[in-house]
Amino acid sequence: MAKHIYGIDLGSYEIKVYDQEKNTIWTEKNVVAENRDGKIIAVGDQAFEMYEKTPPNIRVVFPMREGVISDFQHITDLLQYLLTSGRSFAQGGEYTIAVPADVTELEKRAFYDLLVHSTAKARSVNVIERGVADAVGLGLDVQHCDGVFVVNLGGETTELSVLAAGGLVFNQRLKVGGRQMDREIVERIRRHYNFLIGMSTAEKLRKQTGINDDRSGRTVEIAGRDLLTGVPTFKNIPASLVRASLKDLLEKCVSAIMALIDRTPPEINHIIQKDGLYVTGGLARMEGLPYYINRATGLHVHTSRKPKYCSVRGLMDIVGSPELQALTYSMQEETDRWM
Ligand SMILES: Nc1ncnc2c1ncn2[C@@H]1O[C@H](COP(=O)(O)OP(=O)(O)OP(=O)(O)O)[C@@H](O)[C@H]1O
Ligand SMILES: [Mg+2]
Repeated sequence: MAKHIYGIDLGSYEIKVYDQEKNTIWTEKNVVAENRDGKIIAVGDQAFEMYEKTPPNIRVVFPMREGVISDFQHITDLLQYLLTSGRSFAQGGEYTIAVPADVTELEKRAFYDLLVHSTAKARSVNVIERGVADAVGLGLDVQHCDGVFVVNLGGETTELSVLAAGGLVFNQRLKVGGRQMDREIVERIRRHYNFLIGMSTAEKLRKQTGINDDRSGRTVEIAGRDLLTGVPTFKNIPASLVRASLKDLLEKCVSAIMALIDRTPPEINHIIQKDGLYVTGGLARMEGLPYYINRATGLHVHTSRKPKYCSVRGLMDIVGSPELQALTYSMQEETDRWM
């Protein structure tokens, strides 16, 4: 019987799955839409489309928060729906899942439980720290490297990982990602213009403007509601406002990067100073971001071509290589060891 082998990067914004049998990667937004009776009416990309557009009797839920599972029931429902709705998934498969390192054992355990006790009924679950999966996805020789600094900027978290000789030396998870950025944009626009926009509009605006130091006075027209008149209308928002909204969050990331570098032993620090930082995650595509980090840290910044797929690309290599599988560990063994 053919083995079903999967690599999963369960992101707060989007789930990325590698299916070894089909040799494909597929993604779905990590979202569920349900009606007032709690009946699921859509999941994934389809549910995301409903976000902020639905009538009040439909609720759109994001079952993960800041990199961890915050709503076990809804994420189980989401997985079940994907499993039974023709998504390439089979029961009893062997799973390797990338998880943030800087989470509690209980939070890590939830990832395991999700795959074993949901409809997925995983036969085995191996875990790998996301920073390690990223480094593999970047094509780095993780097992023999002397110092790699990976910054994964995602939908709700920024994960900083320092690796050497196949293992994590330091890791830190910051509650900074696209969602927190969009919240700042919504808030600033409300304060400055008495104009209310949704999170999806803020995301579109952020994707359009990036964080370039744009002195040309460029503006982008967005839809929202004038809070003084209550009328839905359009407004031109300067690109500089987006940059200003993101300033504090970006500075927080840069400070954390610098603090972590300061803590690294001199021999690793030396390599990082020479090689620079590797930036992955969906936010790495935001225009101007790699340049901003380069200017703020003074370090080279490398990005991959499709940074949001970097971890799952790493998982693809890991599940296909017995040598790289040595980087993973089994949650079952961990559990047994505690008994
Ligand atoms: N071209 C782009 N410009 C700006 N932002 C982008 C772009 N493409 C994707 N993003 C942002 O990337 C984020 C999603 O990244 P990613 O898929 O890595 O997150 P995730 O893995 O689901 O979340 P997390 O790792 O925080 O749990 C979203 O906030 C999205 O708006
Ligand atoms: Mg992620």
